[in-house]
Amino acid sequence: FSLCGAILVLAYLLGSIPTGYTVVKLLKGIDIREIGSGSTGATNVLRTLGKGPGAFVLGIDCLKGVLAIFLVYWLFNFAQSQNLIPSTVNLEIWQSWIVTLAGLSAILGHSKSIFLGFSGGKSVATSLGVLLAMNWQVALATVGVFAVVVAISRIVSLSSIFGAIAVSIFMVILHQPLPYILFGIVGGLYVVWRHRSNIERLLAGTEPKLGQKLEQAE
Ligand code: G3P
Repeated sequence: FSLCGAILVLAYLLGSIPTGYTVVKLLKGIDIREIGSGSTGATNVLRTLGKGPGAFVLGIDCLKGVLAIFLVYWLFNFAQSQNLIPSTVNLEIWQSWIVTLAGLSAILGHSKSIFLGFSGGKSVATSLGVLLAMNWQVALATVGVFAVVVAISRIVSLSSIFGAIAVSIFMVILHQPLPYILFGIVGGLYVVWRHRSNIERLLAGTEPKLGQKLEQAE
């Protein structure tokens, strides 16, 4: 149990690493939370500094999610090799629950970062990283949905919302274990909830398309 607690704290701390904030602070000397959408995510970095820094932040934020899940795999392997896990424990079931909780912790850390006074991004890139390490087929299918919506609408937030909703559907279609389906539902709803202000702008018809500026921070 203490091992599981440690994994969840580490996953949260990994998610909390403020990539977007740090990159913009270093390259432009400003607080990204005061520009554009106010999010520290890759989309707002793209808006503020362009493609290179945007892609870099996307990659690192995604990696945070991948590492949070690999941490679980590594620690489970280690505990198993040291005979720290009682033989009565069903490893597969336990691992899928801890993977799910670690994934949710990393996602939470990204948008409620302990290093940024519990502010942050909208958890899209970190969720993608978690998905890649959890089940790459679900991750690719979700990226497919995102890509189709972005190609049609040119609006990142709308594409993220469609992707977030699609995750749990793909989890069910691809016969994933119950914890992963719950990850899809809880994580998906959380990501949609993080897009509240985007949804308001989408309904008002004022959400910027790719390449367009959003002058006021939320
Ligand atoms: O990945 C976040 C994206 O869906 C929306 O970002 O900055 O336009 O609110 P932003």
